[in-house]
Amino acid sequence: MSTSTAARGIDRSYALAWYARNRARTAALFDVLAPGTLYQQPISQRHPIVFYVGHLPGFSLNTLVKRGLGRPGIDEALERLFARGIDPDDAGHDASAFVWPDEATVAAFVREADARVVDALETADLDQPGHPLMDRSEAVYAILEHEAMHQETLLYMWHRLPHDAKRAPHDYALRTTPGPVAQGDVQVPAGMARLGARRGEIPFGWDNEFPGPEVEVPAFRIQRLNVTNGDYLAFVEGGGYADPRWWTPEDRAWLESEQHRHPIFWERRGTAWHWRGMFESFPLPLAWPVYVSQAEAAAFARWSGRRLPTEAEFQRAAYGTPDGSLRTHPWGDAAPAPAHGVFDFSGWEPEPVGTHPAGQSAWGVHDLVGNGWEWTTTVFAGFPGFVPIPSYPEYSADFFDDKHVVLKGGSPATARDLLRPSFRNWFRPRYPYVYATFRTVESQA
Ligand code: AVJ
Ligand code: FE
Repeated sequence: MSTSTAARGIDRSYALAWYARNRARTAALFDVLAPGTLYQQPISQRHPIVFYVGHLPGFSLNTLVKRGLGRPGIDEALERLFARGIDPDDAGHDASAFVWPDEATVAAFVREADARVVDALETADLDQPGHPLMDRSEAVYAILEHEAMHQETLLYMWHRLPHDAKRAPHDYALRTTPGPVAQGDVQVPAGMARLGARRGEIPFGWDNEFPGPEVEVPAFRIQRLNVTNGDYLAFVEGGGYADPRWWTPEDRAWLESEQHRHPIFWERRGTAWHWRGMFESFPLPLAWPVYVSQAEAAAFARWSGRRLPTEAEFQRAAYGTPDGSLRTHPWGDAAPAPAHGVFDFSGWEPEPVGTHPAGQSAWGVHDLVGNGWEWTTTVFAGFPGFVPIPSYPEYSADFFDDKHVVLKGGSPATARDLLRPSFRNWFRPRYPYVYATFRTVESQA
């Protein structure tokens, strides 16, 4: 136990400001929707939109107010209904098994839950040493990061809605002009990479980040830039989706059953390709990173005679340096800022690759954080010594099933609060909806 007299838990005004910032952004995201969209279900493997209205303050109420602080709840049935989302599994789920309350009922619950969470953040003891959920304010960080993560869920769900279900905000703009950086390989010599983080090293991390090991990574070459729509077009037009050499049997069954012939962010208009954007479709921006599932990324990599990186290779490319020290971010120790990359809700779509050179890593690899999560080949699992997080024990452990893989980095819709080297995201390899891209690597002979 630490004998330090320095503050250990979260600063109260910082927590209140972050919570307010979260709630304001969530409200702004729901404001984009046209009236009458709340009961739509844009992704069949996830709940309808209305679930998320209740889930965000409902999770905060359950986790911090009820379980963390032992204070009373509001409505047992609504708290249970809004407690947990569902895993994006392959099977889809039976929407008719749920009965969703009307908008007024949900709004009243949300208002009351919000008020109780704010009151807790204003008045409760937020750092209770030895308390399973309140030690070092764990449950406070958990609710704040949980809402931030779901803002990305909301955005990629919104992306699948028809355009007439959304209204573009006045500041909506696109950047499509290619950057000056050319694609090519960067050589990364053999050396150490850190996965996750050491306990106590950061103010908060999810259970899957601890205890982060150090691993030796053999030398490899990695693409300086993400694979773009333009690069991927050659694979699509060359018949890549129909060629069994590039796909596993499971992938081929999936392509067949979904009649999947190109990335879901693409649309074919006669002979032209368009990007299915948040608010409109427009000619495919060739310089944007391609957004695909891991299966489609791996197929492209095989077609190019290469492979996807491991989590350890990503960590070494992003945070390693020639002198053996580790960086806090690919660019160094400075706090994430717009010049470093495309993240923190900077826009509604990606931007051309290689247009944020200030964010490159010590080796000169661009856009490792932001502009799209990056698929790895690493199966999602706990590090040796894994312990479930008390404030949300199912958070990771429910997905240690050898059916999910690790993604690293971040997307335009990833809050700056989540951009730490140890943060690990995960999805199934054939989940195509996320803002996820990739780059290819090869082992150095
Ligand atoms: C870590 C992004 C995979 O969205 O399923 C939110 C985060 N877990 N509520 C997800 C999460 C529970 C999770 N990911
Ligand atoms: Fe959730």
